[in-house]
Amino acid sequence: MVEAFKVIGGKNIGGVLKVEGSKNAALPIMIATLVEKGTYVLKNVPNLMDIRTLVKLLESLGLQIERLDENTYKIENNGLTNLVAGYELVKKMRASFLVMGPMLAHSKKAKVSLPGGCAIGARPVDLHLKGFEALGTKITIDHGYVEAETEELKGAKIVLDFPSVGATENIIMAAVKANGTTVLENAAREPEIEDLCNFFNEMGAKITGIGTGTLVIEGVEKLNPCEYTIIPDRIVAGTFVIASIIFDGKIEVEGVRREHLEAFLMKLEEMGVKYEIEGERLRVLSKLEDLQGAKVTTMPYPGFPTDLQSPIMTLMCLAKGSSELKETIFENRFMHVPELNRMGAKIDINGNIATIKGIDNFSSAEVMASDLRAGASLILAALKAEGESVVNRIYHVDRGYENLELRLKNIGANIERIKAEI
Ligand code: EPZ
Repeated sequence: MVEAFKVIGGKNIGGVLKVEGSKNAALPIMIATLVEKGTYVLKNVPNLMDIRTLVKLLESLGLQIERLDENTYKIENNGLTNLVAGYELVKKMRASFLVMGPMLAHSKKAKVSLPGGCAIGARPVDLHLKGFEALGTKITIDHGYVEAETEELKGAKIVLDFPSVGATENIIMAAVKANGTTVLENAAREPEIEDLCNFFNEMGAKITGIGTGTLVIEGVEKLNPCEYTIIPDRIVAGTFVIASIIFDGKIEVEGVRREHLEAFLMKLEEMGVKYEIEGERLRVLSKLEDLQGAKVTTMPYPGFPTDLQSPIMTLMCLAKGSSELKETIFENRFMHVPELNRMGAKIDINGNIATIKGIDNFSSAEVMASDLRAGASLILAALKAEGESVVNRIYHVDRGYENLELRLKNIGANIERIKAEI
């Protein structure tokens, strides 16, 4: 059943929004439990569609998974009973392709459906496969599946053409128990990668250079499964901070780690936003009317995150003067632009650069989400626009934001989940 959010915007909303655990840390860490037999307990796992999809996939490979409470999972790995990750689950969630690295580490064999593209781009996995080959794996691709097999994973020096988050994660998971040391250069440095490395080191892995672009992974014989708490979701945090700015600081955001959002927070300061952070609670002190336009280019971490590109575009629409947003990570991540323009925004696109002219306010309209972050940017606009808007295809939003409409209702928003035709 297709659903939409019906939003009556223009309300004064305010209160506390708490940030859930990071989707993009929880997914690779849950997948990492494939590497070693034993019992794991993972805490602060967000309650999302993608997590439920992953649980099904991991169970199909032979793991026993028990949900101890809304955000805590117990995972038993008594060995893998199936080494094929099928199209229907991988297509639903591309991150499923990350099972290849740990399956190689555990069973020296894996067959995983090629994930295929999605709305924001072709999303190839060539860098993942080059990494596996460097570690001594034979790769064959046919009928839409990647088959990988190795006699023994051997440490190697690998230099990524691009600091791909997924390729870095997949290679780490294949290398932690390889014979010898792997040096991974031009590695991605996102906090979610750090969390994955910290999880492995908690289990006795030997990974150094964490947080830098060069990871040194000394293979170990055995890991000791453990309990682990996932970091907060920096992208949800950034989305909620933007909501707070739009509503003149009446929303406090709990779960903000400054060190995960430096580039984003510095850009807000450049736009005239004043804020304070006490512990992990951020309060916005300035008003929306103080906001000035700015230029942003999305970059690999620690640069400005591509996942906050669409949410900050909504904010830029409400700033004085004009702004510019350059998207350098994905080739098609402006699908929210025509939808925002339906809501009265004045955004022009020229290649991978969007130019945004400030407007007084959005006008309510019916729009459509194209990916989870685009959906969030449309909901932010709908909350501000006077009158009734409908945001369609919110299954995208459910993938990345836990119980979003309930939390927004709790701070006074008029938003409800309805059945939709499209
Ligand atoms: C991860 O995707 C995130 N997903 C994305 O978040 C995020 O936008 C992205 O990193 C960039 O930060 C998860 O962590 C589950 P990449 P991933 O490999 O790993 C190209 C969200 O909103 N590339 O760093 O797929 C690729 O085409 C999602 O939660 C290759 O060319 O990102 C893209 O243009 C959306 N070959 C660029 O690199 C490869 O082998 C970045 O991709 C791999 C990637």
